[in-house]
Amino acid sequence: MLTILVKMELIDAIKGRRSIRQYKTDPVPKTIIEDILEAGNWAPSAKNGHQWRFTVLTGKAKDDYNLMFRDHLNNFIQKHGRKETGSAPWTLEIMEEAPVVVIVWNTNENGWITEEHSVAAAVQNICLRAYDLGLGSLWIGDVFYAYEETRKYFDKDWKLSGAITLGYPGTEGKIPKKKTLSEVAEFLE
Ligand SMILES: Cc1cc2nc3c(=O)[nH]c(=O)nc-3n(C[C@H](O)[C@H](O)[C@H](O)COP(=O)(O)O)c2cc1C
Repeated sequence: MLTILVKMELIDAIKGRRSIRQYKTDPVPKTIIEDILEAGNWAPSAKNGHQWRFTVLTGKAKDDYNLMFRDHLNNFIQKHGRKETGSAPWTLEIMEEAPVVVIVWNTNENGWITEEHSVAAAVQNICLRAYDLGLGSLWIGDVFYAYEETRKYFDKDWKLSGAITLGYPGTEGKIPKKKTLSEVAEFLE
């Protein structure tokens, strides 16, 4: 069998990666998940502190966490109304569909803002490597609706930084309108 490896240009990965909100049910082999997280572990980090930590959820562990999140959101909606939960119920549906949910932590050893930046760099590496390997990903902030509950659930005293869904994409994902460079950059001479 002839295998032709086509190398993806970095810029194509940066521009081609999309937030994927529909997944196939096919499981993702553990070696692939490890490969993707390894890319995260190679991110730059403040004082080379590797402040990221990952809790990888699949199968029953993922279902159990999502159930806790769903229960918490339902209670929250009863108290504060549906509007107050923003996109969280919808994001949770995506987490229920995706075969892999990665909970992302920030060890926050020094309380530096830059520690959060390290973790964000790792998440972006993860999303890019997932795309490189033909997987979809979604960077999730909506787990903040269950911030303390998530820390308690996993018995962590790290900061919760977010979550990522991973899986084989069930859609290409829509290209959102991006700001032009002139809207976000100024050049001073
Ligand atoms: C910090 C952060 C948090 C996000 N949280 C969510 C989320 O909770 N739910 C969701 O559907 N998308 C979430 N997104 C995805 C953004 O909506 C998405 O990146 C943006 O619309 C641009 O689309 P693109 O990723 O396809 O370029 C998040 C992205 C970032 C960077």
